[in-house]
Amino acid sequence: MALQHTQIEKNIGLMMFLIILMISVGGLVQIIPLFFMESTTEPVDGLKPYTALQLSGRDIYVSEGCYLCHSQMIRPFRAEVERYGHYSLAGEFVYDRPFQWGSKRTGPDLHRVGGRYSDEWHRVHLNNPRDVVPESIMPGYPWFETTMLDTGDIKTKMEVLRNLGAPYTDDEIEKAPAALEGKSQMDAMIAYLQILGTSVKTRR
Ligand code: HEC
Repeated sequence: MALQHTQIEKNIGLMMFLIILMISVGGLVQIIPLFFMESTTEPVDGLKPYTALQLSGRDIYVSEGCYLCHSQMIRPFRAEVERYGHYSLAGEFVYDRPFQWGSKRTGPDLHRVGGRYSDEWHRVHLNNPRDVVPESIMPGYPWFETTMLDTGDIKTKMEVLRNLGAPYTDDEIEKAPAALEGKSQMDAMIAYLQILGTSVKTRR
């Protein structure tokens, strides 16, 4: 006997099952191709995995919750592109685990902040934003300058990222702790900010 529509409407269990089945198939049809499309899985030309110092800066970015006020995702709209530069491409984030896209913008988007200011500007700004932007509501991070990086776990971090696809060489991983020797959290954060969004040529 063919399944009548009235039977589905009268049987809530059956209806729930069929709704879930439909949403699952519809969702998978949209999501699965993304794992195999070149535009979402291939790094853009010139994209490199983060160096040991940049990676350490990125970890501080995450642990300090910078993403709570800053997105790293320029949308393909004219107002965004004119303000920040070329809209973000999926291929720019293939070595980002996890992504820092975000959507909360108490402060400006940071995806193309790399190269926009000097290292010295960032140093002053991160220490106390009001020294360079008087009306800023961003908190200061004065301890970045005086807190030295922990070199103990950098090799493991890079090995894990390599297992996930970041093309680090043995040599790069071997030399990672030495690269962090004597560097502060400030050095790491600036190294990270200055590389952001620089693999795509932008027009400002
Ligand atoms: C409470 C929200 C808040 C938090 C948390 C925050 N910021 Fe900001 N940030 C802002 C605001 C607002 C501005 C714009 C005013 C200014 O330049 O200080 C800004 C500006 C910036 C700029 C300059 C961007 C540009 O294009 O001019 C950088 C770089 C930056 N923040 C980095 C960081 C980093 C790194 C962290 C974490 C260590 C962080 N911010 C945490 C609110 C925040």
